[in-house]
Amino acid sequence: MQATPFGRDELIHEVANEIKKGKHLVLTGAIGVGKSSVLRESLKHIERRVSERRHFNPLTENAPQLTEEQRQCRRRSRNRVLIYITESQAKAQFVQIAKRLLETGIIKPSALHLAKRYDAIPHAELEWAELQRTVNRLGIRDISAAIIPAIYAYEGKVLVAVDDMTNLTPTQQAFWLAIYEHAQVVTCASSRKSGLNKLWWKMKIIDVPPLKPEAATALVRDYIAQQGMMIESPDLYIGHVVKQANGNPQAIMDMLSESAKERVVNKQQIRAMRHAAGVSYLDFTPVMILFGVAIVSTRYLAMGIGDTALYILAGIGAALFLAIRFLFMKGAGKASG
Ligand SMILES: Nc1ncnc2c1ncn2[C@@H]1O[C@H](COP(=O)(O)OP(=O)(O)OP(=O)(O)O)[C@@H](O)[C@H]1O
Ligand SMILES: [Mg+2]
Repeated sequence: MQATPFGRDELIHEVANEIKKGKHLVLTGAIGVGKSSVLRESLKHIERRVSERRHFNPLTENAPQLTEEQRQCRRRSRNRVLIYITESQAKAQFVQIAKRLLETGIIKPSALHLAKRYDAIPHAELEWAELQRTVNRLGIRDISAAIIPAIYAYEGKVLVAVDDMTNLTPTQQAFWLAIYEHAQVVTCASSRKSGLNKLWWKMKIIDVPPLKPEAATALVRDYIAQQGMMIESPDLYIGHVVKQANGNPQAIMDMLSESAKERVVNKQQIRAMRHAAGVSYLDFTPVMILFGVAIVSTRYLAMGIGDTALYILAGIGAALFLAIRFLFMKGAGKASG
């Protein structure tokens, strides 16, 4: 929605730098914390730099003081091909990789079981609509058997950016491991499944932290202005959203889009939001059970050792317990009703 994510400049720089170093990377963090946004912006950042360099006098890059190795390194990064995968299904992800490799001419159509005649067509003129069905019919195994040699033979760098790999299965891991050998992979994950340790070990982990309050505030203000939301007491509202969201931009967006449905957000609604959110976080059940157990066992203990004072105390505790429980149930019932 906005041009750049709020409060992420430093992180985007860091991620872009790590990508430029050629590392496999995974951005981790809670669901909705903004991993995908940081990855997308970092990729844009690099792509911009590469295209700037392309426009800038390329002859100087081949200046004689460069060693052959340096020159090769530059050529590889100049020939970097970005494959950005937004699909979340494994099969669709592999089809998407195949599509991009066809479009960039890195793979020959015949390698993907397409008719030989397609090999003669310049890759920029290939029509995906025509090829799609055949590629879709291939299994993950066939596709990876075709794409891995193609990536390997490519004189340049293939950067595969996968929006999210949280739900990868151990079986799919094997195919990805092969890709990791010949291409650079950058991705996001909201949790770390132990079955995927082989992949995790290959990646540098960068944690995406919650937004700082200032960035969260800027995001809320920007949204309010863009949507032209009418709010009775904006500072109260903004402070409330920022506090409730705890730095999670997805939570912020959810609250904002909910409020944006109202013609005017008034104080009462702000209070109601706070109340609903507050009650849902209060779960006294475990505490109440422990409390109950403590009271009952104290009573038996008092009876056993014949301590009247303790017995009375436990009785008072039991009465208190019932009173608190009654009040709590009533309160919770009211809030959810
Ligand atoms: N720094 C930011 N500034 C403004 N908006 C942001 C920022 N980070 C994330 N958002 C917005 O918050 C939402 C969630 O962000 P994003 O999809 O990047 O999170 P995620 O961590 O990838 O979530 P998931 O775990 O669901 O994949 C998106 O609507 C995104 O545009
Ligand atoms: Mg994401």
